[in-house]
Amino acid sequence: MSTIQVKNLTRTFQIFDKKPGLGASIKSIFYRPQRTVHAVENVSFEIKQGELVGFIGPNGAGKTTTLKCLSGLLYPSSGNISVLGFKPSDRKYEYLNQIGFVMGQKNQLWWDIPPQETFLLNKAIYNISDTDYQKRLDFFIKTLDIGDIISVQTKKLSLGQRMKCEFVAALLHNPKVLFLDEPTIGLDVIAAQKIRDFVKEINQQFKTTVILTSHNMNDVEELCKRVILIDQGRIKFDGLLSNLTKKFAELKILKFVFENKISKTDIKKFGEIVDGDGYSYTIKVSKEKYLSVASKILTTLPVTDLNIEDTPIEDVIRQVYTDKN
Ligand SMILES: Nc1ncnc2c1ncn2[C@@H]1O[C@H](COP(=O)(O)OP(=O)(O)OP(=O)(O)O)[C@@H](O)[C@H]1O
Ligand SMILES: [Mg+2]
Repeated sequence: MSTIQVKNLTRTFQIFDKKPGLGASIKSIFYRPQRTVHAVENVSFEIKQGELVGFIGPNGAGKTTTLKCLSGLLYPSSGNISVLGFKPSDRKYEYLNQIGFVMGQKNQLWWDIPPQETFLLNKAIYNISDTDYQKRLDFFIKTLDIGDIISVQTKKLSLGQRMKCEFVAALLHNPKVLFLDEPTIGLDVIAAQKIRDFVKEINQQFKTTVILTSHNMNDVEELCKRVILIDQGRIKFDGLLSNLTKKFAELKILKFVFENKISKTDIKKFGEIVDGDGYSYTIKVSKEKYLSVASKILTTLPVTDLNIEDTPIEDVIRQVYTDKN
């Protein structure tokens, strides 16, 4: 049985529209026009134990809403969710004890006390034994390199330092399922890499099931074999990231280096020029034509180096978002 089962999940919100201005404010006392937002609409998917799945989509697509429903923070409007055999909205202690939630946009550590004090609070809340606590904390301190910072008041930590401690707070009870909502947002490349390595390690070592949302495609490419792509509350793709690229990437990127300077007009006829200074050019060519284009350039121009790449994953995803069919 799958660890996570979501069937026809729908979550709507009632929004009150109010026009600006005093007149509108007075009117709105008597009459408030309402609108229903379908944040998540008829979403179904299953995730097996130990999977690490990327949940991606543009702003407002419904990612956070789905994760909140999965973790029991929000009630679904309709549909069924089962995680580890529990109905999350029941908010049973036995359920909450087995999940962890990290939100890059939200602080879960206590602001005025050092992280290690929050860790101790969580130890009590989750009923973690002394030996487990010490063993896990030592492991986190070592892998995240946070020995020096856990005794500093949380509000004095940098964002990256705080995020590492957020992970510890969310993982001390060794949850079986981990929800990560934009865990690398705002982090520099080194801190983001450290977090990615850490998520990988947790997933491999403890077989933790992870759902990760991110706008950072490095996170997704590096961590997730499978992605679920959601847009306007509906699932647009669910499958291997490599298949997403295969299905939607219609272009290949060809990079040439030449022995001597070549004019733009000589190159333009082969495909759209992305970049080029005369000695090297990068062009975009359709998947169907790139092999014949490459061989034509190789035989007619003085090529010293050639590189063929797939469309960057960002471009592929942008294409899926704009493809409304
Ligand atoms: N509490 C709420 N009240 C009203 N509308 C909401 C509420 N929470 C979310 N929404 C709406 O639901 C839709 C989905 O929001 P959600 O936060 O799930 O998107 P998201 O995919 O997480 O986006 P982002 O990438 O920007 O974080 C949006 O249109 C949003 O305005
Ligand atoms: Mg969100």
